[in-house]
Amino acid sequence: MSSYEDYTRVSRNYDKTRGPVGIEVIIGCMAQARTPLEEMVVLDAGCGTGNYSRALLEHVGKIIAVDLNEDMIGVAKGKLARAHDNGQISFHVSRIGELPFEDASFDGVMVNQVLHHLPDEPAKGFPVHRRVFRELARVLKPGGILTVNTCSRKQLEHGYWYYNLIPQAAKTLRNRFVPIELLLEIFEESGFVYRGRFAPLDVPMQGPSYFDPQGPLRKEWRDGDSTWSLTTADELEQALQRIRELDEGGELEEYVVRNDAWREDLGQASILYASRR
Ligand SMILES: C[S@@+](CC[C@H](N)C(=O)[O-])C[C@H]1O[C@@H](n2cnc3c(N)ncnc32)[C@H](O)[C@@H]1O
Repeated sequence: MSSYEDYTRVSRNYDKTRGPVGIEVIIGCMAQARTPLEEMVVLDAGCGTGNYSRALLEHVGKIIAVDLNEDMIGVAKGKLARAHDNGQISFHVSRIGELPFEDASFDGVMVNQVLHHLPDEPAKGFPVHRRVFRELARVLKPGGILTVNTCSRKQLEHGYWYYNLIPQAAKTLRNRFVPIELLLEIFEESGFVYRGRFAPLDVPMQGPSYFDPQGPLRKEWRDGDSTWSLTTADELEQALQRIRELDEGGELEEYVVRNDAWREDLGQASILYASRR
């Protein structure tokens, strides 16, 4: 389970703002596997509501989708009912660090925006992450492809216009993310060869709704970014109050533009790509 977000509740709102940002990059990376793309069996590790699975499905042979939260999987199943019925996708409630699959079962594995939910200990070098990557390496065939969609510390510092309104929560979030350099070391020690890194620059993680200056005032909008769940009641109230004041003073749109200035150059997320040795 996520160690801080209530995905049972969020499952009802997640798709109101979130989509498969960067899927074209993931497809391009998967196409580098030894198995032809259209025959690949791909694991969607932490599939959530199935947005990435749905977008990848028409390009690959089969997807096995895994998530710890039954309600997120329930939404995914509803969306992908036909593919589920014809066996092109199957769903499993499981932890990505203890997968119920044989060694070398998959040609590809994708992990999209899941790692920061792992309950880990940064001070001890992220042992839970290390276990997860050993497990992903175990189930991937030699030459199979791994894609990891995560965020760099810089992207988290400058890539989201509203993080300056909730600095404590944003800092807590940053500390949950494994620094990219360390992730590359973990790849290496788990049996992966790092092959590259891409940052989608054109589309924010919450799509066009990201630009809604009043978005944070609505719970369903905040459900598109779990950082809001890391706020204390006081920090949240202060942030919402600041938005109302900026709005009343006619300065809110300018605030968004000013605090969004770096995003187009940095992007909000990084897709790392590696192959199994
Ligand atoms: C931000 S959502 C991402 C969902 C989907 N990958 C996407 O990008 O749309 C994080 C998901 O990771 C799942 N999750 C968190 N920890 C997990 C774990 N240890 N094993 C499996 N799933 C996990 C949560 O239940 C949630 O559905």
